[in-house]
Amino acid sequence: MALERTLSIIKPDAVAKNVIGQILSRFEGAGLKIVAAKLVQLSRADAEAFYAVHKARPFFNDLVNFMISGPVMIQVLEGEGAIAKNRELMGATDPKKAEKGTIRADFADSIDANAVHGSDAPETAAVEVAFFFPGMNVYAR
Ligand code: PPS
Repeated sequence: MALERTLSIIKPDAVAKNVIGQILSRFEGAGLKIVAAKLVQLSRADAEAFYAVHKARPFFNDLVNFMISGPVMIQVLEGEGAIAKNRELMGATDPKKAEKGTIRADFADSIDANAVHGSDAPETAAVEVAFFFPGMNVYAR
């Protein structure tokens, strides 16, 4: 398996619940290393640009409004197969469908306030890491 880097965001709902540490511990417990991190308040322009790929979807405005409703914790995770491993730890987008023991099953309340974001492929990981950490190296496949 390849050594990868992936972008992870702890969303405003999870930050407000005071579970940043518990979520970061899950990444570390699964062997993922936190190689960059920052707690930030996204602007509307930031959120709209980050989620531009979803611009045509009916929930776009709700998603942007949610992501700017409070601070988010953004980190880059590194490890063997980090992209898939992070997605596995996160669980399904809808917490009602997320497997028991996943971050979303344990900390998320709904499909729109679902605790975490994680890049879904090497190409998106490269774009997303560069978006929040310009100049940071992402391993090529
Ligand atoms: S995914 O995880 O990208 O495959 O899921 P997808 O269904 O494509 O959703 C993309 C992002 O939109 C969020 N989402 C929503 N936000 C608000 N309301 C509704 N109904 C909704 N449905 C999906 C979802 O959490 C994804 O956000 P990220 O940050 O990429 O996980």
